[in-house]
Amino acid sequence: MQLMAKAESITAAGYQGYQQPHRGASDEILVRSGRGSACGEYLRRYWQPVALTREVEDLPRLIRVLGEELVLFRDKSGRYGLVHKQCPHRRASMEFGVCDENGIRCCYHGWLFDVDGRILEIPGQPQANAELVMQKTSLGAYPVREFRGLIFAYLGPIEDMPEFPVYDTLEIEGQTLEPYRADYSCNWLQVLDAILDPIHTTFLHSRMSRAQFSEGMAEIGELLFYQREMSFLGANVRRVGDNVWVRVNELVLPNYTQAGAAFSADGTRPIYYGRTAFSRWVVPIDDENTTAFAWAIFGDRADPKEYNTPEGYEMIEQGERLDRSYEERQRFPGDAEAVEGMGRIADQKMEHLVPSDKAIIQYRKKLRKLCRDLEKGVKPEHVTGIWKNPIPTYGGDTVLRVPADGKDDAALLNDIGERVMQIQYDAEDLVGDARDRQVIDAFKSLEAAYR
Ligand code: FES
Ligand SMILES: [Fe+2]
Repeated sequence: MQLMAKAESITAAGYQGYQQPHRGASDEILVRSGRGSACGEYLRRYWQPVALTREVEDLPRLIRVLGEELVLFRDKSGRYGLVHKQCPHRRASMEFGVCDENGIRCCYHGWLFDVDGRILEIPGQPQANAELVMQKTSLGAYPVREFRGLIFAYLGPIEDMPEFPVYDTLEIEGQTLEPYRADYSCNWLQVLDAILDPIHTTFLHSRMSRAQFSEGMAEIGELLFYQREMSFLGANVRRVGDNVWVRVNELVLPNYTQAGAAFSADGTRPIYYGRTAFSRWVVPIDDENTTAFAWAIFGDRADPKEYNTPEGYEMIEQGERLDRSYEERQRFPGDAEAVEGMGRIADQKMEHLVPSDKAIIQYRKKLRKLCRDLEKGVKPEHVTGIWKNPIPTYGGDTVLRVPADGKDDAALLNDIGERVMQIQYDAEDLVGDARDRQVIDAFKSLEAAYR
């Protein structure tokens, strides 16, 4: 009895392999994305990217998203359709269907379905029977929208379909948006968490193996966290010589993410209102697989055009190339190694969270609440219900010349970080040039105040 009590009281000490639990439990509300699960239903209330436009050619494509097997196609008149895999006649797979001028035909008996799933033709049957079947049933279909090289779908109840959100960073003049995808063999929550974990950039991407992004990221800096409406921000404020670098990572619920430049910002040169280097959705394929669908963004306010290559997208996405030998992955781990190594579905109940995980704690809490609210019949919020398109966002880099004043530099960094964020919030009702002018002028005045 004595020994037992002793063992229980020293669980933080060494050699606790036998005493410590080997398995915990996952955050069951958040890790499930299938039909009928709380979070699966919640995620179905939003437009989600499901493929790259270039992946859809003349043949139908079998895809998986939110645990559903679906068939994505483009008919011969150029319209996209996303339908249930199985034909309502005798369950043949629509992946073997034939794209028609008007929708898709099942390969087995030639039934023709429009892009919205309605049956247009049942060949070889008496007209009366065919019409009866057409009135009674259809092929399950979801609304699809092609947008700048990504294909989005809405998998929820049609009456709750929200307006399609267009974020402000997609409308910046002179920037190039290149669509890409990155597949992860693990649950979506593990991939999503990283965006609100600004300190992992210092360790995983800088100090642990080699500088995977710009050199300046090795500094720890001061961390600031913000939560407003559906937006969660993690700002890292670093001192680089006489400059203060405010880098902001962003999550817009449920799964849209942005962050500053991976390569062009390092704190050494002034940046007045640099914007995100990617616009990215973390989409559950099923509970054990995730795909990040995104645009990498190139231009003066994001990353340099030299990185506009397939390798460049992978490095922006996770710090290293994706397809590497096991030894390389061990020597130079990137995000894929960090998050896939947690297992297909991590045991969140065994985590030990610390102050730098604050934004992760906050967003998961809010997400759980939204999932539970939906179960009780409360309709979820949408960014397009709060703001008008283009939706204001904050992921990006600002570097101002504010030398240390010989006093408490951490306090100075926190102060500059707060002001930089407030300046952007103050301009959120403006769009385009007007917003840029107000924010940039205010940043320059802030800088001048410290001369
Ligand atoms: S199974 Fe599809 S038309 Fe018969
Ligand atoms: Fe990362």
